[in-house]
Amino acid sequence: MSEHTIIDGINYGPLAALIGVWDGDKGIDRAPEPDGEERNPYYERIVFEAAGDVTNAEKQTLSVVRYHQVVSRKSNDEVFHDQVGYWLWDPADNTIVETFTIPRGVAVVAGGTLAPAADPEQELVFEVAADASSPQFGIVQAPFMFKQAKTTAFTHTLTVKGDEMRYSESTMLDIYGKKSYDHKDVNTLRRVG
Ligand code: HEM
Repeated sequence: MSEHTIIDGINYGPLAALIGVWDGDKGIDRAPEPDGEERNPYYERIVFEAAGDVTNAEKQTLSVVRYHQVVSRKSNDEVFHDQVGYWLWDPADNTIVETFTIPRGVAVVAGGTLAPAADPEQELVFEVAADASSPQFGIVQAPFMFKQAKTTAFTHTLTVKGDEMRYSESTMLDIYGKKSYDHKDVNTLRRVG
């Protein structure tokens, strides 16, 4: 890892590439409706901040980046998705974890492994997944959501190269009598600060 990944004495490794303020206005959301689906062009800002490190059970040390994502519908400029979370990196085995919650009563702990020898000057690909049937990389949700709008699985691929970021995420939903509806969001962002 280069010295660019060290901030205030903490090595953020690949997560250093995320830190900053990112804007993107090419978002497309595909979301469920009772009679089909809707497609929503959107713009958003995601702010990633260095948040130190933590030690678990005196054995595992994780670097932590905190984020806040605010997504607005292009058609009316209203915020229609808000998400707060963390990205974690374990240098011991290159595990990455994304944990986040959305204000519908749903929380996700998704994980994956970063390709070895990732260099922040190159393209970095963060790929994580969670499944509601798993007690580890899983999903928990409030009773209403569990019964009426259940998130069964989540996958997220986020790619960063320099000041460009793009992502694709799929939230699988059981809703309106449909099984495994692919609620999908994609966008491309630029670092603006
Ligand atoms: C850019 C990201 C996202 C956008 C723009 C977005 C937008 C939407 C929209 C427009 C709906 C349709 C219902 C409504 O109009 O309120 C919806 C439903 C839903 N979303 Fe998302 N979403 C995003 C990401 C996520 C993520 C990451 C999750 C969870 C892991 C999630 C979980 C849900 C659930 C459970 C519903 C069903 C609730 C309902 O339709 O009544 N969404 N989302």
